[in-house]
Amino acid sequence: MAHHNLDNIDTSEYPHINRGLDGIVAFSTTKSSIDGQKGELIYSGYNIDVLAEKATFEEVCFLLWNDRLPNKSELDELKNELISQRNLPKPVLEYIKTTNKNAEPMAVLRTAVSMLSDFETENSGDKAKDSRKHAIAMTAQIPAIIAAFDRSRKGKKIVSPLKEGSTAYNFLYMLNGEKPGDAAEKTMDLCLILHAEHGMNASTFTARTICATESDMFSAVTGAIGALKGPLHGGANTAVMNTLLELEKEGDSADAVAFTKKKLENKEKIMGFGHRVYKTFDPRAFHLRKMSKKLSEETGHEKLYEWSEDMMKTMKDEKDIDPNVDFFSATVYYSIGIQPDLFTCIFTMSRVSGWSAHYIEQSENNRLVRPRALYIGEKNLEWTPVEKR
Ligand code: CMC
Repeated sequence: MAHHNLDNIDTSEYPHINRGLDGIVAFSTTKSSIDGQKGELIYSGYNIDVLAEKATFEEVCFLLWNDRLPNKSELDELKNELISQRNLPKPVLEYIKTTNKNAEPMAVLRTAVSMLSDFETENSGDKAKDSRKHAIAMTAQIPAIIAAFDRSRKGKKIVSPLKEGSTAYNFLYMLNGEKPGDAAEKTMDLCLILHAEHGMNASTFTARTICATESDMFSAVTGAIGALKGPLHGGANTAVMNTLLELEKEGDSADAVAFTKKKLENKEKIMGFGHRVYKTFDPRAFHLRKMSKKLSEETGHEKLYEWSEDMMKTMKDEKDIDPNVDFFSATVYYSIGIQPDLFTCIFTMSRVSGWSAHYIEQSENNRLVRPRALYIGEKNLEWTPVEKR
């Protein structure tokens, strides 16, 4: 019999028992800093508000991988390298075309990213150099995987990547088959910046743990995608949109306040709210909320935004819980025409930069990650032969 309540168990041998590793520091990093009380997020020295206003996603990638901003020629070089890596290996495209059209996009993305490693066999043996090459390859190819699967499952022709343009621009082009306007590109780019890096969240911890066994970056990112997919982590953005669409089905009688209260009464979690570290408004949600308002108005989805605001106020009044990054990103993606089950893939497209930055950092100063578990089962049981059980 397992006793999941630890009250009657001698825990003296384990002074650091901590469910969910809440507040535990397992690594040091120069990649990001989160102040959960102030609602402050910094990527390698730069406040997220400054990056949201001034940076491009490619600059953020360089920043996370090198801990400094690129000069003009370094940025051009990185952009060119990303462009040169956009084409998917044929067997990966074949897999995307032939897999189950009803598969979850995140599952397809996880498998395809894992496959990419089969085509990255020419390594130099210099770990830092190879890591950089793999980070660029995955950052360039993940958008192509997402767009190819979405088109293929809809019976549309897969669009080859462009030999120009930003990651955001090229992704929207490959997804929709037409070149995006400035506003759509800027929105997409800002979303990529805001999702790039976020401390020791579950997927980054997974990536670092895999790296710490001296496994390769493709394995680390594949594992991280698996962790991000869950609804308590990146999967929350799809769940948020499904909640809003549930409200939409109710038509004129939809009441987001009553809806939220009822869910809380039933002890259900409201997706897109709450955070292990932030005890105030997530600074990323601040930018996404502004974007959501603007885009919802422009695209005739005002109701979705109004319901989001109603849910936000209700959560604050009832539980004193604020929205996280996933809450307003849902309506932003929806307003630019991205289908809800792709939302977590878009998160991945950005977060691969943070995961690979942590991989590089962990490789430079590695120690195996190996915590303990408290055994709460029985011991020294008598063996019963199989026919007597
Ligand atoms: N809806 C309702 N109640 C909530 C919520 C929520 N979204 N989040 C936290 N609570 C309550 C929870 O029920 C608990 O109440 P009580 O003390 O009365 O039992 C209290 O707040 C503490 O919650 P917790 O689950 O112990 O907190 P945690 O730090 O273990 O979990 C979380 C953090 C993000 C998993 C959780 O807030 C949650 O499940 N949120 C919904 C899913 C979500 O939006 N995830 C995205 C996270 S941020 C971005 C990302 O990673 O993608």
